Amino acid sequence: MIRAGIIGGSGYTGGELIRILLMHPDAEISFVYSTTRAGTKISDTHPDLLGVTDMRFTGTVDSGVDVVFLCLGHGNSTAFLKANSFSEQTKVIDLSNDFRLAGDASLDDRRFVYGLPELNREKIRNAGHIANPGCFATAIQLALLPLASKQKLGNDVHINAMTGSTGAGVATSATTHFSWRNNNISWYKPFTHQHMGEISESLQSLQDEIPPIHFLPMRGNFTRGIFATAYTRYTDSLESAEALYREFYQDASFTHVSDQPLDLKQVVNTNQCHLHLHKHDDLLLVSSAIDNLLKGASGQAVQNMNLMFGVEEGSGLQLKSGVF
Ligand SMILES: NC(=O)c1ccc[n+]([C@@H]2O[C@H](COP(=O)([O-])OP(=O)(O)OC[C@H]3O[C@@H](n4cnc5c(N)ncnc54)[C@H](OP(=O)(O)O)[C@@H]3O)[C@@H](O)[C@H]2O)c1
Repeated sequence: MIRAGIIGGSGYTGGELIRILLMHPDAEISFVYSTTRAGTKISDTHPDLLGVTDMRFTGTVDSGVDVVFLCLGHGNSTAFLKANSFSEQTKVIDLSNDFRLAGDASLDDRRFVYGLPELNREKIRNAGHIANPGCFATAIQLALLPLASKQKLGNDVHINAMTGSTGAGVATSATTHFSWRNNNISWYKPFTHQHMGEISESLQSLQDEIPPIHFLPMRGNFTRGIFATAYTRYTDSLESAEALYREFYQDASFTHVSDQPLDLKQVVNTNQCHLHLHKHDDLLLVSSAIDNLLKGASGQAVQNMNLMFGVEEGSGLQLKSGVF
């Protein structure tokens, strides 16, 4: 069994990791560290786990675990790794954006690999440290990577993506407060979202020159999921685009091309990314749907763990969507 530690266990991605790893056939949780809840029952914070686990949060780490997941806000992962040491064999999977960009991907002698299996599967298998991608970044890259792989991003790309409120973490804020968020919709950080850096680096790893990418992030009045659309000029046929996407994702365990237009609920509570292609005149519209906390965070982190430890890529991740 893979012995795992979780840091930041009271947050949303930490909670999702606990749920997945408790059911994982090849892994067991060694400890769940919390800065704010040490000594309390995990099920007091995550009540859905009542009757599933009697574990308590700890205020200390077991430095000999096989893998440690960092579920902390940006900047806190670096601080945590500097303050706490683990064995040389302990693999690290960080869910923050501390190590995602090439220029940030080192901490002392640790070298982080960008953990998008559809792009870096072989590198992930051999990695000791993973920078898990951002949620918007996952949905958007999976929508565009096949085009970049054939140098087909020739003109401006326009992206609109809407996220649920769990994307902002467990702490309440003005824009996650129920009274504001419910029955509401809004955009934020137009064209400047922090995930643009990792999206651009991944596309540039496949296509030398990429066109301007215009990304408008939106807040939706639902709790989970990201529904993204991207469109750009594409003069070949729809059939050629579908063949390109199906070939690019032929070995992907969780990314699938649908013949049908998508809705969000078909992927919520799963580690899937579903894609759909539509052509109108010379425009190709790519839709992409994921669960922000699973394929966009904790599910993808476990997918990376599975690859790093040589167990089946989908182990522990055969989850059921909440279609209705
Ligand atoms: N939410 C998403 O959809 C999503 C998707 C992809 C990536 N991410 C990234 O994953 C990381 C965790 O996200 P999350 O949504 O799980 O966040 P969160 O719900 O806010 O949880 C973060 C946890 O970090 C711990 N923590 C430790 N030191 C802290 C400090 N100084 N200030 C605040 N919290 C501190 C807290 O847990 P304890 O009190 O138990 O220590 C807190 O609950 C972030 O970097 C985020 O950007 C999130």
